[in-house]
Amino acid sequence: MLILAIETSCDETAAAVVRDGRQLLSSIVASQVAVHAEYGGVVPEIASRHHLEAIVTVVAEALRSAAVSFADLEGIAVTQGPGLVGALLVGIGTAKGIAQARQLPIVGVNHIEGHLLAVQLEREIAFPYLALVVSGGHTHLYDVQEIGHYRTVGQTLDDAAGEAFDKVGKLLGLPYPAGPIIDRLAGIGNPVAVRLPRPMLHDGTCNLSFSGLKTAVYTHLQRHPEVTAGQPLHDLCASFQQAVCDVLVAKTRAALAQTGHQRVVVAGGVACNSGLRRAMATMAEQQGCTVVFPSPALCADNAAMLAVAGEHYLTRGLQTPMAQLDALPTWPLEQVLTRLQAHYD
Ligand code: KG4
Ligand code: ZN
Repeated sequence: MLILAIETSCDETAAAVVRDGRQLLSSIVASQVAVHAEYGGVVPEIASRHHLEAIVTVVAEALRSAAVSFADLEGIAVTQGPGLVGALLVGIGTAKGIAQARQLPIVGVNHIEGHLLAVQLEREIAFPYLALVVSGGHTHLYDVQEIGHYRTVGQTLDDAAGEAFDKVGKLLGLPYPAGPIIDRLAGIGNPVAVRLPRPMLHDGTCNLSFSGLKTAVYTHLQRHPEVTAGQPLHDLCASFQQAVCDVLVAKTRAALAQTGHQRVVVAGGVACNSGLRRAMATMAEQQGCTVVFPSPALCADNAAMLAVAGEHYLTRGLQTPMAQLDALPTWPLEQVLTRLQAHYD
């Protein structure tokens, strides 16, 4: 099945063409990061307008670079949520238009479901596995039994990991999104130079919290206002990154113990972080488990990742009726399949 996938949940306008839910033929991502950087974060209204400007070109480019035409398509997968309503509606409207014009089956896919299955486009990972989704909006541990069957094992009680990187970056005067910059600055910093807390490390749950860590960085900066450049900045970045990674690794370890899984998939934008990749590789060695990261292009927001679940559902006859294909700003992963099946009750 040849699927066109469309993603517009936040600040990337993306389209991809994927065959049989596994073979990536094209993946186009138009980022609005530079536009939102001026405001220090994503401005929803501006995001919607930029999606509207970019979407037609992005879809055309995805088809062109896959060397296929609208007539070749056999299905459409589009992000239905979670995300910014106005942004989601641009992708959904475009996807519905194409599906209607070409009489194609269409399915609304959960953005987080996309992230935790993206790795399947690069290598076959056997189910079940544990998935750690770390992005700007999410920090969740999921028990992935198979496509459509997910259970939340743990989640952040406040900020997401990416949000913590971005907010700390703001405190340090770094541009948005600060995650990749902190990662780079941390590269030559000393991770034990600044003592920072590891929130909820030993609370016996798989839940996480990052707001206290952010406050600790703020307090440190109040006491040491000189930490804005040079080695002290590198050291603070390295210490912060180490604290985030320590918590993520410890909670992943706890979730492995709770679920009994032997495989971990790490996904979402923060999965690009070099410190996290190293820390998880060390944990894998110690635990004797497998930790898999998709390549950076598939960790960050993209449309290709939607086609894995999209193809799975469409080939089983599960579609989202046009009238029910509306934007869902929140959409718990546990409800993905029940929502889809409810259309057939
Ligand atoms: O998955 P994603 O592209 O979009 C969301 O769905 O949120 O994730 C974006 C987040 C941002 O917070 C960004 O700062 C963070 O991922 N990020 C990183 C790195 N690359 C992106 N955080 C830490 N280290 C990185 N290398
Ligand atoms: Zn995302």
